[in-house]
Formats: sequence, C-alpha cells, structure tokens
Amino acid sequence: MRLAVAGAGYVGLVSGVCLAAKGHHVACVDVNSTVVQQLNNGTPHIYECGLPELLTEVLAAGRFSVTSDLGSALENSDLVVIAVGTPSKDGAIDLRFIRKVSGSIGDYIGKTGRFLSVVVKSTVVPGTTDTVVRQEIEQASGHRHPAFGLGMNPEFLREGEAIEDFMNPDRIVFGHEDPRTLELLEELYAPWDCAKVRVNTRTAELIKYANNALLATQISAVNEIANLAAALGGIDVMDVMQGVHLDKRWTPVIGGQRLTPGILAYLVPGCGFGGSCFPKDVEALRTQGEDRGLDMRMLNGVLDVNRNQPGQVTAILERECGGLKDKRCLVLGLAFKPGTDDVRESASLKIVADLLAGGALVQAHDPIAAENFERAIGASGDGVDYLDDWQAELSETEIVVVATRWPEYGVLSDLNLAGKTVFDARRLFGRDSLDCGKYLSIGLT
Ligand code: UGA
Repeated sequence: MRLAVAGAGYVGLVSGVCLAAKGHHVACVDVNSTVVQQLNNGTPHIYECGLPELLTEVLAAGRFSVTSDLGSALENSDLVVIAVGTPSKDGAIDLRFIRKVSGSIGDYIGKTGRFLSVVVKSTVVPGTTDTVVRQEIEQASGHRHPAFGLGMNPEFLREGEAIEDFMNPDRIVFGHEDPRTLELLEELYAPWDCAKVRVNTRTAELIKYANNALLATQISAVNEIANLAAALGGIDVMDVMQGVHLDKRWTPVIGGQRLTPGILAYLVPGCGFGGSCFPKDVEALRTQGEDRGLDMRMLNGVLDVNRNQPGQVTAILERECGGLKDKRCLVLGLAFKPGTDDVRESASLKIVADLLAGGALVQAHDPIAAENFERAIGASGDGVDYLDDWQAELSETEIVVVATRWPEYGVLSDLNLAGKTVFDARRLFGRDSLDCGKYLSIGLT
C-alpha cells in the first residue's frame, strides 16, 4: 500500500519506517526542511534504538522518503496517517497542529476530489477525530464524510523501545468511522499477526488514554504506599511490594512457573513518572473530564502524588544529612527513564533544582541526555557541573543520587562508597548491596 504520514517526529518517523520495513511505500511529510534533508540522508533527528539501521534499510529499498510537500505525498496515497504533535496548554490538549494538518488534507481532497482515508495516530482526547478532524476536513474540502475516510489508530510505543513495540505490538486498535477506512487499516496491518481491536474512533482514543492513565495510576499508588511506609518507620516498601507482587493476579503461575509480567515494573516505588506522555495524557484526560462536569478525583490524585514525589528525594536528604548546604552531590541520570535522551518532565529536573536551592554543590551525569537537560532546566540549573567521567569524581562526592535506572550505574555496587550517602531513587540496588555509608531511598526509613 502507498501511504503518507504527516509529521516526521517520534511517532510519525518510527511508524513510517516500520510500515515501510513491512513492505509499504511511505511518504513522510514534515514542515522542517532541515529534518527532511537529514532523514533523506539516513540520519534520524531523534534518538531511538534500532532506528538508524531501519531507516537506512527502507531508504535503500526505495520504500521510504520524506518531503515538506504534503500534496506530493498524498498524490499516490490511499491513506494518510496524522502523527503531528499534541502539546499541552494549561493542562488541556492543544489541537493546533491537528487542525492545521487536517485543513491542509481537506484542501487537497477538495482540489483533487480523490477519496482518501485520514487516520489519526497522534494521541488526541476522545471525540477529536469525529468532531475536530472531521469538521476541519469537511470545511476545507467542501465534502462531507464519508466522501473521505476517518480513522484513529493509536500508538503504544515506549520511548527507547519504539521499534520493538511497533514491530511486536500487544494489539493494534482500528478506530474507524466508515467501512472503507477499516478495510484500509486491515490491509495496512495485514503483515502483523496480533490481536486487532475494531472500534469507533472515540473508543480507540479512550483506549490509548485509559492505558496510560492506568499505568500512571499504578506508579502513583505505589509511591503513596511508599511514603506511608517511610512515615510509619521500620518498613522497607520493597519488602511490602515483594509480598504484594506474589499475588497470583499480579504474577500468574502457569504450569508451575511463576510469570513476571512487565506490569510489575510500574509497581515499584520511585521519584515519580515523567516523559512526554504520562503527565500530559493524564492531565488532558483529567481536564476533559472536568470540562464535562466530573470531579476526576482519581486522576487528580495521580497527578498530585506525582508532582510531590521528586521533592521526597531532597526532603529525605535534608533530614538524613543535616542539611544540604555545600554538600557535594552527584546526580546520576537526567533522562526521564533509561534508553532515551528525553528529559521532558524528568524527575531529575526537580531534584537538581531542589538540591541547588538547598545549597548543594551539584555535579550531574547522563550517558546521553545531559545536553537536553541543561537546555531544559535553564536558569534553575545554574551552577551544575556536567560530567563525562563521573567515576573519576566519585572520591570527592558526599552524596550520590541515582535518579534514572541506567544499567551502567549498576557498577556502583563494585565501587568504593565508604562514608558516602547513596540515595537510590529508582531502587536500582538492594538496600544491602552497596557498601556505602548510608543507603537511602523512597519508602524506607
Ligand atoms: C508510555 C507508554 O508506556 C506507551 O505505551 C505509550 O505509547 C507512550 O507512553 C505514549 O503515550 O506515547 P513512555 O512514556 O515512553 O511510554 O514510557 P514508559 O516506559 O511507559 O515510562 C513512563 C514512566 O513510567 C516513566 O517515568 C518511567 O520511569 C516509569 N516506568 C517505566 C516505571 O515506573 N516502570 C517501568 O518499568 C517503566
């Protein structure tokens, strides 16, 4: 099949390249001419494991190209996937780019009179495709649906594992408003053999949000229990969670073997969730509910707990170290999670700012995210010393904060940490596996 993908950002690029790898002909469209040129030369502008190799492969096969001309990309396409950004504005979703690209697609449909199915992949609040997108296209084209097709095909891609998630999905959701779009979606994903869910577009939209909201809820729930365990004293919440995880409903026993589902990783205490998805999506859903007159108590709670969680790190350090003034602190991990250089809503932004505000002398390291971090933290990060070789500085450090679960920090268990305080904010280590002066964490007193 020939298709266009509007938006060569993280979602559009990964989707386009993976669809091309499965044999489709994909024309990606992006407004940024530098990005267009870079991608056509085989260099991704985002960091994603396996992407450079796959991009080179599909470019060489002649099945993938990038252009800034939407019209030419649509020319031979039966279907266009919208994968433009949906930023957050005052907690609500900002549909500016969705509107704009829908209008441009509508212009094309109006001019050519060709049938085209428009499938939204961007994360949009329930009801967006069959109201906003539909209206923009109808207005610009002068045609009423179903003179064009409408669909919604949410992505479930984790940053850092996006290629793997696209190629081996748990399920694919075909949100559709007309039979032709469903047919095209079936054809598009024919190479994938997995569960396929066929629903209307607003159900597809809510599946995506519900998925992220429930994962975020697990994280905040376990963090609240961790804070309670710490307040009670004499409890390590990891022991609590180990006991909880053994419930067969979390870890089913099949054929005498206990499974360890990935979901359990979201039931580990820490300094909160971040990234470009969980915080923004939970907020957008909360705001949509409130706009409909609902209290959205649960999602408000999830956000509240998460907002306060990074602050636990400095609060505990202040208490346990008798203040932070002039203490030499090394923060390990600046990305919101390992495997990415993304620092959006990273807990480290707050942790570093709090440490500096407390008077600490802060050094920081991340294998790939330091540059992005420095830019994102701005003036609140003035004074941070970014290190390339953190181990070389370790002897002078008094406090080490492990803020991201990068595997390379596992080496701490082999290093001399005598007299040092280690704050393991992600529970990378068991409480007895470090030979340090003091081991601190969330949910442990
Ligand atoms: C998340 C979802 O997992 C994807 O399914 C979804 O498609 C994506 O949002 C999106 O909406 O586009 P992502 O934000 O890349 O993907 O990251 P996750 O790996 O789920 O991490 C989100 C947060 O959960 C992070 O703060 C991370 O520290 C935390 N997390 C992650 C855990 O607590 N445990 C884990 O095992 C993984």
